[in-house]
Amino acid sequence: MTTGYLWLKAIHIIGVITWFAALFYLPRLFVYHSTTTDTVGRERFKVMEAKLYRIIMRPSMGVAIVFGVWLLALAWDSFATQGWLWVKLAGVALLLGYHHYCGRLVKAFAEDRSPHTERFYRMFNEAPAVLLLLIVILVVVKPF
Ligand code: HEM
Repeated sequence: MTTGYLWLKAIHIIGVITWFAALFYLPRLFVYHSTTTDTVGRERFKVMEAKLYRIIMRPSMGVAIVFGVWLLALAWDSFATQGWLWVKLAGVALLLGYHHYCGRLVKAFAEDRSPHTERFYRMFNEAPAVLLLLIVILVVVKPF
């Protein structure tokens, strides 16, 4: 592996880490927001959620994807034949769906709507952890 490739990989991993920080914390805010009834509390959650989504989560996703695709493009011929890569990309597709749905929930809460129960948000909060386990094991162990 060249130094250039390793730099790209380092930036990819930094993007992934900050993306996950937000993917873990935003749904946690939904759990608390959904049970908050006072106006001051609700308004504060709205600001926290919107800023986390716009300033951390979306740009981090961009960095992870741009640098991930860049790495892929540099050695496409050898990656394309490896099974783990395709399962990883399927996991990433699920993660993108999750990210997008978080954006819809931020919007719903901003309009003082909470489409789900507190229990739903608690379970929803666990999904990124499952995808993280799957994807990291696939890229590091490369089991198939
Ligand atoms: C479109 C999205 C993504 C693409 C195209 C992509 C692609 C890649 C590629 C090509 C590598 C280099 C693998 C190697 O050198 O063996 C890599 C490394 C890595 N990726 Fe991604 N990735 C994406 C998203 C993610 C996500 C969401 C995660 C975490 C959940 C992740 C975690 C990692 C890790 C930990 C490595 C380092 C593996 C190692 O060097 O041992 N990637 N990625």
